[in-house]
Amino acid sequence: MTFATLSLSLFYLLSSASARSPVHQGQSCNSVDQGYQCFSQVSHLWGQYSPYFSLEDESTISQDVPDGCEITFAQVLSRHGARYPTEKKSKAYAELISAIQGNATYFSGRYTFLKSYNYTLGADDLTVFGEDQMVDSGKKFYHRYQSLTRKITPFIRASGSDRVVASAEKFIEGIEKAKLKDHHSRGDAAVVNVIIPEADGFNNTLDHSTCPAFESNELADTIEADFAALITPPIRRRLEGDLSGVKLSDDEVISLMDMCSFDTIARTTDGSELSPFCALFTEKEWVQYDYMQSLSKYYGYGAGSPLGPAQGIGFINELVARLTQSPVQDNTSTNRTLDSNPATFPLNTTLYADFSHDNSMISVFFAMGLYNGTAPLSQTAVESIAEMDGYAASWAVPFGARAYFETMQCKREKKPLVRVLVNDRVVPLHGCAVDRLGRCKLDDFISGLSFARTGGNWKSCFA
Ligand SMILES: *[C@@H]1O[C@H](CO)[C@@H](O)[C@H](O)[C@H]1NC(C)=O
Ligand SMILES: *[C@@H]1O[C@H](CO)[C@@H](O)[C@H](O)[C@H]1NC(C)=O
Ligand SMILES: *[C@@H]1O[C@H](CO)[C@@H](O)[C@H](O)[C@H]1NC(C)=O
Ligand SMILES: *[C@@H]1O[C@H](CO)[C@@H](O)[C@H](O)[C@H]1NC(C)=O
Ligand SMILES: *[C@@H]1O[C@H](CO)[C@@H](O)[C@H](O)[C@H]1NC(C)=O
Ligand SMILES: *[C@@H]1O[C@H](CO)[C@@H](O)[C@H](O)[C@H]1NC(C)=O
Ligand SMILES: *[C@@H]1O[C@H](CO)[C@@H](O)[C@H](O)[C@H]1NC(C)=O
Repeated sequence: MTFATLSLSLFYLLSSASARSPVHQGQSCNSVDQGYQCFSQVSHLWGQYSPYFSLEDESTISQDVPDGCEITFAQVLSRHGARYPTEKKSKAYAELISAIQGNATYFSGRYTFLKSYNYTLGADDLTVFGEDQMVDSGKKFYHRYQSLTRKITPFIRASGSDRVVASAEKFIEGIEKAKLKDHHSRGDAAVVNVIIPEADGFNNTLDHSTCPAFESNELADTIEADFAALITPPIRRRLEGDLSGVKLSDDEVISLMDMCSFDTIARTTDGSELSPFCALFTEKEWVQYDYMQSLSKYYGYGAGSPLGPAQGIGFINELVARLTQSPVQDNTSTNRTLDSNPATFPLNTTLYADFSHDNSMISVFFAMGLYNGTAPLSQTAVESIAEMDGYAASWAVPFGARAYFETMQCKREKKPLVRVLVNDRVVPLHGCAVDRLGRCKLDDFISGLSFARTGGNWKSCFA
């Protein structure tokens, strides 16, 4: 690509972003209801590295509670907020940037910032922006389920990594802030009731690890690398042409794209400034990158992985127990000691919040059959999110993602109805007689969860 066409596509990227974004540079991008909407044209294409954004406008069904219905149960399953790169990647990014700084003979135009860019990102933990996302998520949950949250304190569990526990605590801070402004609030202060260790051999429904055949499967890594090999050559040619002296592998090209998100979510506390790394790539390239991340999650933790959905069975069986107020029936990843004790797994309440990771959430969604309308993803050609029937890593598991599992009692229906919202998009249920508002009768929904209730193919973990 010549410099002229590069500038043209960048112009297109930047101008179309500002035309669509309701918020402009300099204003906070971190709102309770909408999440991160600045620069949405590009930031919604960062796969699981996208900061949470509301899919309300993408939903064909309103997220409002229908007239004549009252919410009777709510469970949120949340990813942690925006974080620094994982330790291994943080080190790799730092080395890459320093290698570019050492090798490049000059930096100009869009690349000028790289000459003096100082890599100071931490590792693994939430950024300040990520903490604020979780406070906002707590406020939003409080308001959405106010008829319950006013009276009841949610029962809260977190998987044991620091950023997940910190996310639960920030979510609680959001709930408590919302309560202070609500004179009708009566519940006790929320706390993290259970932290499930992410230790070897510990059964944890919020973080996979105990299924050997799954843990050793490398299918998704191969598929992701093959797809990266398809999309990186033209990007590499451009970057190497513009940064004379630099030589980049496929991984390194992708790392520079990752930096756009990681530098943005660490750069300011409110996400108001887009990283200069973002402008090194065109919108078309972001669409490819986003698809690559969706592909990786689908073949790593979703239906594309033989034991991916099995990793979500334990959580589904816990949800069934909560919905039916009856003991957990599961022989997969649940911990029987925890789940048979009312202090660590009560069944007598109607408000729950669990904090987890993107990967486990993908497995839970697929164990529920939430994306059973999604055909196997092409490993060689980008599909649109519509073609994937609403599945995408950026739509399902961005930083601060939240899925709501809710039941409602409606005037014209004797039986309670179930509905699932993923980042404010009502995802019409599968496996049961779904109505035009995406709901099923509770009994029918549970009967449709036969994959999870019968233990799915968990036995193959040990084959
Ligand atoms: C890079 O950032 C670190 C940490 O903020 C700071 O101590 C150091 O002086 C900076 N280096 C340069 C060259 O700006
Ligand atoms: C189950 O949980 C109990 C209580 O926390 C713990 O002592 C035990 O090690 C756990 N076992 C497994 C297999 O997860
Ligand atoms: C920088 O140059 C070294 C030495 O030639 C080479 O091994 C390395 O791959 C280069 N890295 C980049 C990012 O250009
Ligand atoms: C779990 O295993 C027990 C003992 O083999 C069996 O009775 C029960 O039906 C199993 N439950 C599920 C949900 O697979
Ligand atoms: C942990 O899960 C395994 C099945 O993967 C099960 O055999 C074991 O009993 C579970 N341990 C506890 C404490 O629930
Ligand atoms: C549920 O039962 C526990 C005791 O097992 C009790 O402390 C708690 O208040 C009960 N919660 C509700 C919502 O009734
Ligand atoms: C989703 O599809 C899988 C695989 O065909 C099937 O086992 C499962 O029962 C389906 N789930 C629902 C809820 O329809």
